[in-house]
Amino acid sequence: MKQVLGIIGSTRKMGNSELAVKMISRQIPEEHSLNLLRASDLNIEPCLGCYKCLSREGRCVQDDDMEVFLDALAKADGVILSVPVYFFGPTGIIKMIVDRICMIYPRFEQFIGKPCLIVIPLGIKGKDGYTSAALGSAAMTLGMDIVGEAQILAGGRGEILISEEHHETAKELGSLLFAPRQEVVRDGKRCSICGSQSFKFIEESVECLVCQNQGTLTVNNDEAAIDIGLTSSSELNTLGDRNHHLGFLMGKQKDYPKKREKIKEMSAEYKKDGVWIK
Ligand SMILES: Cc1cc2nc3c(=O)[nH]c(=O)nc-3n(C[C@H](O)[C@H](O)[C@H](O)COP(=O)(O)O)c2cc1C
Repeated sequence: MKQVLGIIGSTRKMGNSELAVKMISRQIPEEHSLNLLRASDLNIEPCLGCYKCLSREGRCVQDDDMEVFLDALAKADGVILSVPVYFFGPTGIIKMIVDRICMIYPRFEQFIGKPCLIVIPLGIKGKDGYTSAALGSAAMTLGMDIVGEAQILAGGRGEILISEEHHETAKELGSLLFAPRQEVVRDGKRCSICGSQSFKFIEESVECLVCQNQGTLTVNNDEAAIDIGLTSSSELNTLGDRNHHLGFLMGKQKDYPKKREKIKEMSAEYKKDGVWIK
């Protein structure tokens, strides 16, 4: 039987994020069990930036719940990532987890290629800010394939339940999780590689904020269209790209001792600057 992992990014019990996961799970045609993780129930420490995990088979020097999270993720066949908008972005606990993702680099094979649905409850239409880009890149950095995404306009706790439209959305998303992979729709409004709607302009190109591939923006009859092609080695969720980044980080670590003495000497004179409040 397939295992679905619902990752809930809200502290609110039986809130819209939790209910969205349960509503979608009920609509998944394939037989499955639903495992749940409320991110805020986990003890997640900030990344120390030491990169020690890279040479410890991905084990962090800190003993917190990251292994609980990674173990649940590794066992899942599919994931529903349901995170509300808090001040134009996802809740902070999700970024705390993403900051620790170097831990998966030495064991990326365990995580790669899992289908993922992204669900974003929000209170005000259009006030989603950078949430989709943040969750899209989080899912891809975790090795997942995004197979569906939806916003759920529902402010009060549990409000998701009373809208027929949200039940329809749950049905649609549920049908997608284990369905044969569909090509991303090339409608000029989304990235044709990963489906994201978040871009930045760089010199003559447009870059997708999620998969980091580049393309062009054209305007025809006042209609703007973006066409992103597979241009970079930065498909975040491929083994090749992860290994490339891992190699880069290991190389940096190897080089650092050569500069350490010089940096130590130069930073000594900055040590006493400023007054620490705490
Ligand atoms: C602190 C806080 C900040 C919020 N910021 C936004 C926001 O920037 N944009 C928005 O549309 N909704 C915002 N909301 C509304 C939530 O996204 C909305 O209520 C959502 O349904 C909560 O999901 P939950 O029930 O799973 O907690 C905010 C809610 C809280 C509590």
